[in-house]
Amino acid sequence: MTYHETSDSILTVENLSVDYDGKKIIQNINFDEKDITRPNKIQGQSIAFVGRSGRGKSTLFRCLSGLEKPKTGKVLLPDMHKHQGEAYPPMKEVGEGDVGFVDQKYTLFRHKTVYQALQFAMRKQKLEKSEKHDKIMVHLRDWGLETVKDQYPNELSGGQRQRTAILEQVLSHTNYIIMDEPFSGLDVGNINNVKSAFKLINESHELNTVIFCTHDIELAVALAESLYVLGYPTLENGRLEPIGTLIKKYDLKSMGLAWHDQLTNRHYDVVEQVKQSILES
Ligand SMILES: Nc1ncnc2c1ncn2[C@@H]1O[C@H](COP(=O)(O)OP(=O)(O)O)[C@@H](O)[C@H]1O
Ligand SMILES: [Mg+2]
Repeated sequence: MTYHETSDSILTVENLSVDYDGKKIIQNINFDEKDITRPNKIQGQSIAFVGRSGRGKSTLFRCLSGLEKPKTGKVLLPDMHKHQGEAYPPMKEVGEGDVGFVDQKYTLFRHKTVYQALQFAMRKQKLEKSEKHDKIMVHLRDWGLETVKDQYPNELSGGQRQRTAILEQVLSHTNYIIMDEPFSGLDVGNINNVKSAFKLINESHELNTVIFCTHDIELAVALAESLYVLGYPTLENGRLEPIGTLIKKYDLKSMGLAWHDQLTNRHYDVVEQVKQSILES
């Protein structure tokens, strides 16, 4: 076994449901993700959600980020603020600002340079100005953005914009980052940039957790340690009930499929199973 898992939850969702205008969109969403630890490694978590369009991925993500209050149920995270420094603080309900959200378009402030955007992202952190500067500079170097630090969004390449948008969240929020379809519409090079960003996030803090959805099932299997299929369940009469819920979980780390540099035949088998599960739900 190349990893071991502690018993401490980093994200728990209980009986979550959302209605719009009295119409149920998602319901009965329950899952619990644990902190992953690996010997001699800082290891954050990557959790993927896949499913057909309209099944409720973005709706679930808005609840996970605290942007939307669910009709029923709870999203629980460790209470880092009140219990700073403790390894595993007690759980509390998610609040606005606990979780960063990177939208699909990688929206940036038009009138701020990369450096200014990151400075703004850190405005609530209780650090001296010089400490903030040092932190920003280290990240700019690590993320290959040092040479464009004084440029505005319209002077950046697509890849540089993405990294800036992700870095804003890395620097402004706690350990959780939600990315809604971060790979859609990107070319191969930019997909690689975002993949590297995932890796950097996961390797920079034990509790860092990336939650994402994608229609690229190979990428989801390659990047995630846990993968959930969100879809419509099959009723007894064989029809689909048009309310999104979790249909299947693949615990890729327990299956020995996490953290491979290259996908193996076993990964491709899982990719096929996941695709089938998506098609049936
Ligand atoms: N603000 C809203 N008001 C009404 N219906 C909505 C709203 N947002 C999403 N929906 C509906 O909820 C369902 C799930 O949408 P969404 O969460 O965006 O799915 P996904 O991200 O999986 O494509 C869709 O049927 C969509 O039309
Ligand atoms: Mg969506």
